Amino acid sequence: MTATALPPLPPDVAELLRALDAPPRLVAHLALVHEVAEEITGFCAREGLVFDCEAVLYGAATHDIGKTVHPEELSAPGSRHEPAGHALLLAHGVPEHLARFARTHASWDGPGVTVESLLVSLADKAWKDKRVRDLEDLVVERLAAAGGRERWEAFLALDDLLTRIGEDAPRRLAVQAAHPVRTG
Ligand SMILES: [Fe+2]
Repeated sequence: MTATALPPLPPDVAELLRALDAPPRLVAHLALVHEVAEEITGFCAREGLVFDCEAVLYGAATHDIGKTVHPEELSAPGSRHEPAGHALLLAHGVPEHLARFARTHASWDGPGVTVESLLVSLADKAWKDKRVRDLEDLVVERLAAAGGRERWEAFLALDDLLTRIGEDAPRRLAVQAAHPVRTG
Protein backbone atom coordinates (compact mmCIF):
# COMPACT_ATOMS: atom_id res chain seq x y z
CA MET A 1 0.00 0.00 0.00
CA THR A 2 1.31 3.47 -0.83
CA ALA A 3 1.29 6.05 1.95
CA THR A 4 -2.04 7.50 0.88
CA ALA A 5 -3.79 4.28 -0.20
CA LEU A 6 -7.20 3.76 1.35
CA PRO A 7 -8.37 0.75 3.31
CA PRO A 8 -11.26 -1.05 1.57
CA LEU A 9 -14.92 -0.12 2.01
CA PRO A 10 -17.71 -2.70 1.79
CA PRO A 11 -18.18 -3.29 -2.00
CA ASP A 12 -21.83 -2.12 -2.07
CA VAL A 13 -20.88 1.11 -0.28
CA ALA A 14 -17.91 1.73 -2.60
CA GLU A 15 -20.26 1.23 -5.56
CA LEU A 16 -22.84 3.67 -4.17
CA LEU A 17 -20.18 6.32 -3.50
CA ARG A 18 -18.96 5.95 -7.11
CA ALA A 19 -22.53 6.31 -8.40
CA LEU A 20 -22.95 9.48 -6.32
CA ASP A 21 -19.62 10.87 -7.57
CA ALA A 22 -18.62 11.35 -3.93
CA PRO A 23 -15.71 13.74 -3.28
CA PRO A 24 -12.37 11.91 -2.70
CA ARG A 25 -12.03 13.53 0.74
CA LEU A 26 -15.36 12.02 1.79
CA VAL A 27 -14.50 8.56 0.44
CA ALA A 28 -11.20 8.69 2.34
CA HIS A 29 -12.92 9.75 5.56
CA LEU A 30 -15.50 6.96 5.33
CA ALA A 31 -12.82 4.33 4.55
CA LEU A 32 -10.71 5.42 7.52
CA VAL A 33 -13.63 5.50 9.98
CA HIS A 34 -14.75 2.09 8.66
CA GLU A 35 -11.24 0.73 9.25
CA VAL A 36 -11.32 1.96 12.86
CA ALA A 37 -14.85 0.54 13.30
CA GLU A 38 -13.45 -2.88 12.34
CA GLU A 39 -10.96 -2.63 15.21
CA ILE A 40 -13.61 -1.43 17.64
CA THR A 41 -16.16 -4.11 16.69
CA GLY A 42 -13.49 -6.84 16.93
CA PHE A 43 -12.62 -5.64 20.42
CA CYS A 44 -16.28 -5.42 21.51
CA ALA A 45 -17.00 -8.94 20.23
CA ARG A 46 -14.02 -10.28 22.20
CA GLU A 47 -15.37 -8.45 25.26
CA GLY A 48 -18.64 -10.38 24.94
CA LEU A 49 -20.80 -7.50 23.75
CA VAL A 50 -23.81 -8.63 21.72
CA PHE A 51 -24.50 -6.24 18.85
CA ASP A 52 -25.13 -6.05 15.11
CA CYS A 53 -21.57 -5.89 13.79
CA GLU A 54 -22.63 -5.57 10.15
CA ALA A 55 -24.79 -2.55 11.01
CA VAL A 56 -21.91 -0.81 12.82
CA LEU A 57 -19.54 -1.37 9.90
CA TYR A 58 -22.14 -0.21 7.38
CA GLY A 59 -22.91 2.82 9.53
CA ALA A 60 -19.24 3.75 9.82
CA ALA A 61 -18.83 3.39 6.05
CA THR A 62 -21.82 5.62 5.24
CA HIS A 63 -22.38 7.97 8.22
CA ASP A 64 -21.33 11.15 6.37
CA ILE A 65 -22.76 10.19 2.97
CA GLY A 66 -25.08 13.22 3.19
CA LYS A 67 -22.01 15.34 2.47
CA THR A 68 -22.43 14.32 -1.18
CA VAL A 69 -25.55 16.53 -0.97
CA HIS A 70 -23.93 19.18 1.27
CA PRO A 71 -20.24 19.15 0.24
CA GLU A 72 -19.71 22.49 2.00
CA GLU A 73 -19.91 20.50 5.24
CA LEU A 74 -16.69 18.69 4.27
CA SER A 75 -14.73 21.81 5.15
CA ALA A 76 -17.04 23.68 7.53
CA PRO A 77 -19.20 22.56 10.45
CA GLY A 78 -22.83 21.79 9.78
CA SER A 79 -25.51 19.18 10.35
CA ARG A 80 -27.59 19.42 7.19
CA HIS A 81 -25.77 16.33 5.90
CA GLU A 82 -27.33 14.23 8.67
CA PRO A 83 -31.02 14.13 7.59
CA ALA A 84 -29.89 14.37 3.94
CA GLY A 85 -27.70 11.26 4.27
CA HIS A 86 -30.44 9.28 5.94
CA ALA A 87 -32.94 10.21 3.20
CA LEU A 88 -30.39 9.46 0.48
CA LEU A 89 -29.71 5.95 1.80
CA LEU A 90 -33.43 5.18 2.15
CA ALA A 91 -33.97 6.43 -1.42
CA HIS A 92 -31.32 3.94 -2.58
CA GLY A 93 -33.18 1.09 -0.91
CA VAL A 94 -30.96 0.79 2.16
CA PRO A 95 -33.06 -0.52 5.09
CA GLU A 96 -33.64 1.72 8.10
CA HIS A 97 -31.51 -0.37 10.49
CA LEU A 98 -28.49 0.37 8.26
CA ALA A 99 -29.49 3.88 7.11
CA ARG A 100 -30.17 5.34 10.59
CA PHE A 101 -26.52 6.08 11.41
CA ALA A 102 -26.36 8.84 8.81
CA ARG A 103 -28.93 10.69 10.92
CA THR A 104 -27.72 9.71 14.43
CA HIS A 105 -23.91 9.70 14.30
CA ALA A 106 -23.49 13.11 15.94
CA SER A 107 -25.88 12.56 18.87
CA TRP A 108 -25.30 9.82 21.40
CA ASP A 109 -26.94 11.21 24.53
CA GLY A 110 -30.58 10.95 23.49
CA PRO A 111 -32.95 8.42 25.06
CA GLY A 112 -32.96 4.95 23.51
CA VAL A 113 -29.60 5.31 21.77
CA THR A 114 -28.49 1.86 20.59
CA VAL A 115 -25.12 0.28 21.23
CA GLU A 116 -24.58 0.20 17.45
CA SER A 117 -25.05 3.99 17.29
CA LEU A 118 -22.59 4.47 20.15
CA LEU A 119 -19.96 2.41 18.33
CA VAL A 120 -20.36 4.32 15.05
CA SER A 121 -20.02 7.62 16.93
CA LEU A 122 -16.99 6.27 18.78
CA ALA A 123 -15.25 5.24 15.54
CA ASP A 124 -15.99 8.71 14.10
CA LYS A 125 -14.00 10.22 17.01
CA ALA A 126 -11.30 7.57 17.55
CA TRP A 127 -9.94 7.71 13.97
CA LYS A 128 -8.43 11.14 14.70
CA ASP A 129 -7.68 10.41 18.37
CA LYS A 130 -10.47 12.62 19.67
CA ARG A 131 -11.42 11.38 23.11
CA VAL A 132 -14.97 12.16 24.26
CA ARG A 133 -15.51 11.21 27.87
CA ASP A 134 -19.32 11.06 27.97
CA LEU A 135 -19.43 8.92 24.82
CA GLU A 136 -16.75 6.56 26.16
CA ASP A 137 -18.61 6.30 29.48
CA LEU A 138 -21.72 5.09 27.67
CA VAL A 139 -19.69 2.43 25.83
CA VAL A 140 -17.96 1.40 29.07
CA GLU A 141 -21.37 0.89 30.69
CA ARG A 142 -22.41 -1.49 27.88
CA LEU A 143 -19.09 -3.35 27.98
CA ALA A 144 -19.17 -3.76 31.75
CA ALA A 145 -22.73 -5.08 31.67
CA ALA A 146 -21.94 -7.49 28.81
CA GLY A 147 -18.77 -8.89 30.33
CA GLY A 148 -20.03 -8.97 33.93
CA ARG A 149 -17.04 -6.83 34.88
CA GLU A 150 -16.41 -3.80 37.02
CA ARG A 151 -16.68 -0.48 35.23
CA TRP A 152 -13.04 0.34 35.87
CA GLU A 153 -11.92 -2.89 34.22
CA ALA A 154 -14.02 -2.19 31.16
CA PHE A 155 -12.76 1.39 31.16
CA LEU A 156 -9.11 0.27 31.19
CA ALA A 157 -9.69 -2.18 28.35
CA LEU A 158 -11.42 0.45 26.21
CA ASP A 159 -8.83 3.08 27.08
CA ASP A 160 -6.08 0.70 25.95
CA LEU A 161 -7.81 0.11 22.64
CA LEU A 162 -8.47 3.81 21.99
CA THR A 163 -4.90 4.74 22.92
CA ARG A 164 -3.57 2.17 20.45
CA ILE A 165 -5.95 3.36 17.72
CA GLY A 166 -5.02 6.96 18.52
CA GLU A 167 -1.33 6.32 17.93
CA ASP A 168 -2.10 5.85 14.23
CA ALA A 169 -4.19 9.03 13.98
CA PRO A 170 -1.45 11.18 12.36
CA ARG A 171 -1.23 8.69 9.47
CA ARG A 172 -5.01 8.68 9.03
CA LEU A 173 -5.20 12.48 9.11
CA ALA A 174 -2.45 12.67 6.48
CA VAL A 175 -4.21 10.13 4.26
CA GLN A 176 -7.50 12.02 4.48
CA ALA A 177 -5.84 15.39 3.82
CA ALA A 178 -4.13 13.94 0.73
CA HIS A 179 -7.56 13.42 -0.87
CA PRO A 180 -9.11 16.55 -2.40
CA VAL A 181 -12.38 18.03 -1.17
CA ARG A 182 -13.59 18.45 -4.74
CA THR A 183 -14.16 15.78 -7.34
CA GLY A 184 -12.14 16.00 -10.54
FE1 LIG B 1 -17.37 11.45 10.21
